[in-house]
Amino acid sequence: MRETICVTGGAGFIGSNFVLQRMQEDGASIVNLDKLTYAGNLRNLESIAGDPRYEFVHGEIGDRGLVRKLLEKHQPNAIVHFAAESHVDRSILGPDDFIRTNIDGTFALLEETRAYWSALADEEQKRFRFLHVSTDEVYGSLGPNDPAFSETTAYAPNSPYAASKAASDHLVRAYHHTYGLPTLTTNCSNNYGPFQFPEKLIPLMILNARDGKPLPVYGDGKNVRDWLYVEDHCVAIATVLRGGRPGETYNIGGWNEKPNMEIVETICDLVDEIAPRAGTSRRDLITFVKDRPGHDRRYAMDARKIEHELGWKPKETFETGIRKTVRWYLENEEWVRDVTSGSYRQWIATHYSG
Ligand code: NAD
Ligand code: DAU
Repeated sequence: MRETICVTGGAGFIGSNFVLQRMQEDGASIVNLDKLTYAGNLRNLESIAGDPRYEFVHGEIGDRGLVRKLLEKHQPNAIVHFAAESHVDRSILGPDDFIRTNIDGTFALLEETRAYWSALADEEQKRFRFLHVSTDEVYGSLGPNDPAFSETTAYAPNSPYAASKAASDHLVRAYHHTYGLPTLTTNCSNNYGPFQFPEKLIPLMILNARDGKPLPVYGDGKNVRDWLYVEDHCVAIATVLRGGRPGETYNIGGWNEKPNMEIVETICDLVDEIAPRAGTSRRDLITFVKDRPGHDRRYAMDARKIEHELGWKPKETFETGIRKTVRWYLENEEWVRDVTSGSYRQWIATHYSG
């Protein structure tokens, strides 16, 4: 029997990379439930839109009637839950949507999943998995010499975004502990690669550098993130889905800690190399701006558990991954034009004014 996976948020950055990768690698059918917020883009999935193994459902995870019908109709063996509000700066400006989608939405999805799963036959119940895609930000911020976050690090979320993801992680944990729902949680570090909405550091810097606009670095530019190429993250999720132990959490990271300034300078040099501008260096565009309130200083992931238990480790190096990513943004002008019109312009104007 063919496997059916229900993906939420599959039109977003990581979700669409996951859907494309799994359609290519596995024989699975995929149902993609997405609200199509500003961050969701069906263009990412154009290449599979006509595939009989793929179906798109426009709607939100908090719509319990819709979720119920979808589960009844498609009878999935697994749910992979990406849907979320994902941008820290937006959560600082207005947390409401983060509470609504990340907490209330996850709760609604869990309730409908529990009802669906409880009614399955024994064998199907055993096979079923609910995989919750989460973040390293739930663990808070590290000092320069602290060990990396492990699966047993205490939660200490600092932004409304991180707090909303932490709350959803706790709900997922409770549904396993209390009801026996076969859940899996993955906590991953910063992703980069194709289809990332250009509000996030890497695509924002690539496009501003291309256009000769200022490159806004928050604070002193020494905040550290652990960067992972998105396709490696998608393979890790598929690996946990296949072999992870129900009720467990798995940290995923790139073993690739870098301060923001190093990232921005690398992007400047690559854009200069691929799309040179006579007599100028993109590094001249770097502009220090007001820091993000409550800005976490350092994230680092200890990803030994997933490596030891399931044999996953990242394949892409940062050098090859960032080069591919810069090229992708410079070569996909239509995609960029599509996502940087309308509400995007308004966000950039409001967020970076003054
Ligand atoms: P994204 O913002 O690019 O995409 C989110 C998707 O969810 C969009 O397609 C959007 O339309 C959809 N969505 C939002 N609210 C919805 C709702 N109520 N119902 C249905 N769909 C809804 O996000 P992303 O960067 O792809 O992140 C995906 C997941 O991975 C998130 O849960 C995020 O917390 C987590 N994560 C992201 C990163 C990262 O670096 N981007 C790292 C670790 C974990
Ligand atoms: O760590 C995982 C998280 O990574 C995910 O859970 C989030 O969904 C994702 O958005 C990302 O969060 P960050 O806040 O780390 O990513 P962002 O790209 O917004 O910022 C990365 C770093 O760059 C951070 O230290 C802030 C800084 N920054 C960001 C922007 C947008 C700047 O200096 N200038 C900017 O304009």
